[in-house]
Amino acid sequence: MGLTLTEKIIKEHLVVGEMIRGTEIGIRIDNTLTQDSTGTMAYLQFEAMDVPKVKTKKSIAYIDHNMLQTGPENMDDHIYIQTVAKKHGIIFSKPGNGICHQVNIERFGKPGETLLGSDSHTPTGGGIGMLAIGAGGLDVAVAMAGGEYYITMPEIVKVELKGKLQPGVTSKDIILEVLKRFTVKGGINRVFEYVGEGVKSLSVPDRATITNMGAELGATTSIFPSDEETKLFLKAQKREDDFIPLNADVDAIYDEETVIDLGQLVPMAAAPHSPDNIKPIDELEGMKINQVAIGSCTNSSLYDLMKVASILEGNTVAEEVSLVISPGSKQVLNMLAENGSLAKMIDAGARILECGCGPCIGMGQSPNTKGISLRTFNRNFKGRSGTTDADVYLVSPEVAAISAIHGVITNPVGKVGEAVAGVEVAKEFKVHDNMFVVPAEEGEEVEVIKGPNIKPFPKTEKLKDSIHKNVLIVVEDNITTDHIMPSNAKLLPYRSNIPYLSDYCLTPCDPEFPARAKEQDGGIIVAGHNYGQGSSREHAALAPLYLGIKAVIAKSFARIHKNNLINNGILPLIFKDEKDYDSLNLRDRLSLDNVLAGVEAKELIVKNETTGKEIKVVLDITDRQKEMILAGGLINMMKENV
Ligand code: F3S
Repeated sequence: MGLTLTEKIIKEHLVVGEMIRGTEIGIRIDNTLTQDSTGTMAYLQFEAMDVPKVKTKKSIAYIDHNMLQTGPENMDDHIYIQTVAKKHGIIFSKPGNGICHQVNIERFGKPGETLLGSDSHTPTGGGIGMLAIGAGGLDVAVAMAGGEYYITMPEIVKVELKGKLQPGVTSKDIILEVLKRFTVKGGINRVFEYVGEGVKSLSVPDRATITNMGAELGATTSIFPSDEETKLFLKAQKREDDFIPLNADVDAIYDEETVIDLGQLVPMAAAPHSPDNIKPIDELEGMKINQVAIGSCTNSSLYDLMKVASILEGNTVAEEVSLVISPGSKQVLNMLAENGSLAKMIDAGARILECGCGPCIGMGQSPNTKGISLRTFNRNFKGRSGTTDADVYLVSPEVAAISAIHGVITNPVGKVGEAVAGVEVAKEFKVHDNMFVVPAEEGEEVEVIKGPNIKPFPKTEKLKDSIHKNVLIVVEDNITTDHIMPSNAKLLPYRSNIPYLSDYCLTPCDPEFPARAKEQDGGIIVAGHNYGQGSSREHAALAPLYLGIKAVIAKSFARIHKNNLINNGILPLIFKDEKDYDSLNLRDRLSLDNVLAGVEAKELIVKNETTGKEIKVVLDITDRQKEMILAGGLINMMKENV
């Protein structure tokens, strides 16, 4: 029987378990990446493991999320990451070198290898044929220390691409179509594998846009084959030796199949406030806009920005519109400058930002009150832009650029064909890796510098046999990690200071939550479906841990967040009968007895002392995760095993 591409890579890296769907497997990790927002914590955890040098082939520490320096905190964090990287064998990418996923695909992505990143958009690497997975910082720290990474052996969805996109329709529209079909919940424990004739017409940057936003499906990852296009891209990056051809076998068996006829696709947008709220641009055409933001790890490649420059050439950004452009990397910006594209953008009236995440993570450029912002990014959750009542529409660079000129949402089909026709992926990239700092030969001699804002992470303790706590909050379906631990310009500088951050935990849902948690010495969270969707932010588990949260009882959990809860010794309990969600109220007193036996059996009884009702909850965890919960989290378990 033939294998899918995903199975081939997993087979090569399998350390624990068998490739049986739904069972837990451990895979060897070749490469890791971190970004600054999750990186400080990951490196504090790595240091706690007492491993002198990373054991991966390559580990890279990027600084891209927060480069605003309005106080010493950010630069202190950057210096900590730079020194800890130098000491322990990690390549450091300086602020301004670019967004982790864009740079990683340019300079390090290698078909057939595995990549674990402490950022949920790590699957971008699937565009170049890697098995690239997003995880919490602690999982990445373990991988750097040589430990395997555990996942549920995923189902594999075949996405067959047929035909060719018409001018003005882009790879962004392909992934928006997939999101329309599968929704933000449709990817849990699944890998989306792209195959078919249509794949050939997509460049590596096109493919990376699709695999990047596959994260919004909640998928384990997404992947494209490694073919002639991949080879051309690697050759242009002067990395031809990294190329190997990779494909699924013709008789590979998939768990589900879907076919997309590229010729039939139209430009689309993800309307507020979810990436799966898909509308054709025609339906939105004519809507007045206030802001257009082009960039992010989804659409900031040279190829994307060359098309933008070409559309803007000789035009002027509409009077009421602010157009901001953030190039994805130093390489992109440098080449835009050299080939004259940057001048076209500036001439049209665009504001050029530095190479980083910027507005995507709410670091500057928040829209006006009730503003309409068109963004080429991957997420439009309420408030993520920094303006709570703004409406963010996610679109392709083509829609963004033409709309910026017209001042209203505009369908690019028939309007940009000529401008973008001649734009191709570069045949030769300008390679100058001088913003990477290489690790020291003798790491022992490097002093790690920690500023005063870097506080130790909260300690966990062994699981107790009884938990008697109050319900501290009841939240609805699809609560994101942005709700649980908001990340904005004010808070990002405190990412290494959990005591400070915890005062903002779940405040978008209930501003009183942190005070209540402190006053009641911790408690229990009750949630609907898909709790913890969105980014891989480990702080969304660390802040509740600091506040004394012992358990989250939900209808279902998003994968990375559930793992982060387990890693930190918080029970992720699932209602056996989801109707019981309606029986729990704020401040109900809950009793969980015989917890240790219940965890062993993966089923517990929760007694609601306030109403007298008993409800059943289950733990959808592996035996290894069970041991971790009993030990009080991953670091405790690792220490026990030493
Ligand atoms: Fe950065 Fe936004 Fe991507 S925060 S890594 S550009 S999702």
